[in-house]
Order: sequence, then C-alpha cells, then structure tokens
Amino acid sequence: MFYATGPANFLDIPNIEKTLSDIVNCNTLSVAKMTRMVLPQMLTRKKGIIINLSSEVGRHPQPLVTVYSATKRFVDFFSRGLEAEYRSQGILVQSVLPFFVSTNMTNNIKPNRFVKTAENFAREALNTVGISSRTSGCLSHSVQSFIYDLLCPEWLCLSSLGVKYTQAVWRKLEAQMTALKHEQARTHMPK
Ligand SMILES: NC(=O)c1ccc[n+]([C@@H]2O[C@H](COP(=O)([O-])OP(=O)(O)OC[C@H]3O[C@@H](n4cnc5c(N)ncnc54)[C@H](OP(=O)(O)O)[C@@H]3O)[C@@H](O)[C@H]2O)c1
Repeated sequence: MFYATGPANFLDIPNIEKTLSDIVNCNTLSVAKMTRMVLPQMLTRKKGIIINLSSEVGRHPQPLVTVYSATKRFVDFFSRGLEAEYRSQGILVQSVLPFFVSTNMTNNIKPNRFVKTAENFAREALNTVGISSRTSGCLSHSVQSFIYDLLCPEWLCLSSLGVKYTQAVWRKLEAQMTALKHEQARTHMPK
C-alpha cells in the first residue's frame, strides 16, 4: 500500500491514523505473518522460494514517502536476515527492490525505458531467482539504482535542497499520473 493521495509530509498524510495502521500492517506485518504460515512446510520439504517485494525507496530514507519507504526497508532487512537463517536448509529468500513499474499503485503510468510493464518486470525478475538474493529485478532498474547512488548521495537527498528537489520531482510525476488518469477516464467514457 502507498498513500492514497500521493507523496506527503508525515503529518499531511490524509486520514493519518487509519493510513498508518493500514500501511504498516499491509506492508510489514503481513510479510512476517505470511512467512510464518508458509515456511514450516518448506522446511519439511527442504526446499522453497520466497520472493518479497521491497522497493528502491527501501534502500535509503525517502522524504515525502517516509512511512512507505520505512516499511520497504523492513521488507528488505527481513528478507536478507531470513535468507541467512534458512539458506542452509534449502530455502531461497529474495528481496526485490524495483524502481517504477506500471501498475495500479503507480496509476498505470505509461511504460518507457525507465518504467517497466508488470509483465516484463516479472519476467526479468524471475530470471534472477537463484542467482541473486537482492536485486532491482531488471537491468533498467539496476542501472537506474546505480546512477541514483552516484548522483544522489544520502546527505544530498536529506538536505533541505534535496527535499525541495524531491518535492518537485514527485509533483511532476503526480501531474503526469493525474493527466494519464483523466485521459484514461475520457477514452473509456461511453459515447
Ligand atoms: N509499482 C511500482 O512502481 C513498485 C515499485 C517498487 C515496489 N513496488 C512493490 O511491489 C508490490 C506490488 O505492488 P504493485 O505495484 O503491483 O501494486 P498494485 O498493482 O496496486 O498491487 C498491490 C496489491 O496489494 C494488494 N493490496 C493492497 N492493499 C491491500 C490490503 N489492505 N490488504 C490486502 N491486500 C492489499 C492489492 O490487492 P487488490 O488487487 O485486491 O486490490 C494488490 O494485489 C508492492 O509491495 C509495492 O510496494 C511497486
């Protein structure tokens, strides 16, 4: 789950009480509890693969999507710790940290060389299972992650200048997504 109305400062998250519980429960608690449900039978069979979806924003603290970013950090740490605990017993745990993928969560943003379709992303990501236990999921996102690390060191992203820039980028993305939503609504309207 992401914030219903897009990136926001912590106290400006709409319907904050409910949203906090929903996001934290859905993005973190469900991952640990689902693992609790499926892991025992995998251990009995001495094999199993668990693929958890973190996010690029789980690599570094991300102002304006702070809660979401923190929950994605949970998923990444949980997956990596779990992999270390159970690898020797035949269990693979993979942490996937994508950039943008065109899905409901991203308002079906138009795919391009940076934004993957869900199908293409899933296909590429599945090819990394057994090869990498922590991955961006596809070549395009790995390259973006590498460049992001080079150009956006944490001290810069968390500075007031960095936060202002991030705000501007999110606004631009939101405007694109809203325009796309309107376009989709217009083209699907009965004549
Ligand atoms: N799309 C991206 O750019 C992107 C980037 C990085 C990481 N991710 C991660 O990838 C994963 C999949 O996201 P997505 O992009 O595929 O988004 P999505 O299309 O919106 O899918 C989200 C899924 O979560 C389910 N869900 C949402 N709220 C729920 C709730 N309260 N209880 C139970 N299930 C709930 C939805 O179920 P329904 O279908 O029933 O609504 C849907 O199956 C997420 O963990 C996301 O953080 C996505």
